[in-house]
Amino acid sequence: MDDEFVVTPWKVEGKVDYAKLIEHFGTSPIDDELLNRLIKDAGEEHHLLTRRIFFSHRDLDKVLDDWESGKGFFLYTGRGPSGPMHIGHIIPFYFTKWLQDRFKVNVYIQLTDDEKFLEEERRLTLEEARKWARDNALDIAAVGFDPDKTFIFQDTEYIKNMYPLALKVARKINFSWVRAVFGFDMQTNIGMSFYPAIQVVPSLFERKRCLIPCAIDQDPYWRIQRDIAESLGFYKTAAIHSKFLPPLTGPIGKMSASKPESAIYLHEDEKSIRKKIWKAYSGGQPTAELHRKLGGNPEIDVAFQWLYFFFEPDDRKLKKLEEDYRAGKILSGEMKLILTEKVLKFIEEHRARREEAKELLHLYMYDGELAREMWRKVHE
Ligand code: TYM
Repeated sequence: MDDEFVVTPWKVEGKVDYAKLIEHFGTSPIDDELLNRLIKDAGEEHHLLTRRIFFSHRDLDKVLDDWESGKGFFLYTGRGPSGPMHIGHIIPFYFTKWLQDRFKVNVYIQLTDDEKFLEEERRLTLEEARKWARDNALDIAAVGFDPDKTFIFQDTEYIKNMYPLALKVARKINFSWVRAVFGFDMQTNIGMSFYPAIQVVPSLFERKRCLIPCAIDQDPYWRIQRDIAESLGFYKTAAIHSKFLPPLTGPIGKMSASKPESAIYLHEDEKSIRKKIWKAYSGGQPTAELHRKLGGNPEIDVAFQWLYFFFEPDDRKLKKLEEDYRAGKILSGEMKLILTEKVLKFIEEHRARREEAKELLHLYMYDGELAREMWRKVHE
């Protein structure tokens, strides 16, 4: 890959050039025609689509063919429970829920406590990874998926039902292949080299086409899946990839637990949220006077970028913010305050739903219609 940036499922470094990434990963951009077709089938726009936050795909056109012809499809996404979830992690789930609402399809959500235990740099005990899976499941349930069409499962618990299929997948993948795709070396523990088989399995849960919404860092798994699925009698998975919500600390890299000031966590209190956004990287001038004269740069202003990415869905309001910022009519501090109010409102609402979700979690994991079916089913 280009030396200036690196994107793997475990790290994002440098300033990501998304056009280059499409080329490097061999995915396709979502062009206007495909975008319009998706919006037409969904019956509604979504700003994550129209603003090209979800910018790349694999076989999304085939998913829509299957939908339009009545064959249908299903959704699969997931979370690696390494700790508390931040706002970037939850965005694909809100988008997945929108897709479920629009297309009325099943959603499978994998919590990879096994993966996060195996990643040695994280130094998590297995007990901690399993505990975080439970914690994260509540944030995911708070998103409001249809309890009868959604199955949330934790690998260490559901593995028995997945194991036969995981074996069939694993036998198709040799070590030199995962080494090349994921950058493993001779020191990598052998759990990691088996793990990709586990992340592939849910894309084979139904004999329909699977669509995976996620950020583009997860694509290497889908590349492997697409090379082996048909030989096992399944469809190659489709995917729709998003960009990364930029870290508060600047437009480089990705939010990370090792830099807590770079992200806002779903459990954070108001004071700390206000402080972090206040300190966020800005596209403004050194003084208010200069800013009024020269204007700011919204392209690198993280507060504006967060509004663009997720927090200001209204295109007209967003455009006005952008213009006023460029013209120096809005100061960086003002932009930050606008974002702060939006983030606080979002977090407050999310948290209220998380409380309610405590009563519903058993439906997603064990007792809802789809969950019950999944616990009966062994994937062979
Ligand atoms: P994880 O826990 O690293 O990330 C969870 C989801 O969030 C996406 N993501 C982001 N999206 C926007 N902005 C960001 N800054 C950002 N950072 C992360 C990820 O792409 C992911 O969609 N191995 C996976 C767990 C997994 C999975 C899946 C993910 C298992 N099966 C299927 C997606 C689809 C992981 O550790 O995700």
